[in-house]
Amino acid sequence: MTKRILGIDVGGSSIKAGLVDVTTGRLLAPLAQVPTPQPSTPAALIEVFVALDSRLSGGGAIGLALPCVVQQGVTRTAANIDSGWLDFDCAGRLRERLDRPIVVLNDADAAGVAEMRWGAGEGTRGVVIMLTFGTGIGSAIFNDGVLLPNTEFGHLEMQGMDAEHFASARVRTEQQLDWPAWAARVNQYLARMHALFWPDVFILGGAVSENFAHFAPLLDSPADIRAARFAGQAGVIGAALAAA
Ligand code: BGC
Repeated sequence: MTKRILGIDVGGSSIKAGLVDVTTGRLLAPLAQVPTPQPSTPAALIEVFVALDSRLSGGGAIGLALPCVVQQGVTRTAANIDSGWLDFDCAGRLRERLDRPIVVLNDADAAGVAEMRWGAGEGTRGVVIMLTFGTGIGSAIFNDGVLLPNTEFGHLEMQGMDAEHFASARVRTEQQLDWPAWAARVNQYLARMHALFWPDVFILGGAVSENFAHFAPLLDSPADIRAARFAGQAGVIGAALAAA
């Protein structure tokens, strides 16, 4: 039987949503995409979630991925989103508006969950680190397929700054780095991550995934480096799966 769950993924510039068949990981229609309201306050985003739900959902559960540490539905950090998300009871507030099961989780954790279940990490045992390169750098770490939630490896210090201020996709665009220059930074970051965690596999995803062919040959790590299969859809699919 098809189980359809609405997945929503909040990014720095856009919010993506789609109804997902959580028995197969397939999107049932092309992703809906709307610009992230600026400022990206909880009140503004809750209205967007409610509107997306009335447009897309069949009235079932909702999985919501946010660029925040999330504990029991409460968002705890706000690096690339309005500071109103600090200690905001997102699941509780959304449940007041939409009376149904709601699961809220970190966006990179959601992407990693999708990749481990149906994507580049499917069936992979050992330590896998999913990294998403977008506005920031998101991370998810798995051992034998089991997630340790809320890792924030994008905030590892490198060159006296947060790693995501050194090697995210946004930095590449803003500083107009060519692929070799950006890949050199990513290699430094992967080397640092490898020295600390010794993963068997890195899965690289996020906004930059569609250009994987440009920079993959320039990357180097003792760990196996794989492209995310779901690219920009992973957060939506993983959020829905988490809510299933
Ligand atoms: C946030 C993470 C998030 C990542 C990707 C970082 O700035 O701290 O929670 O996963 O960006 O969106």
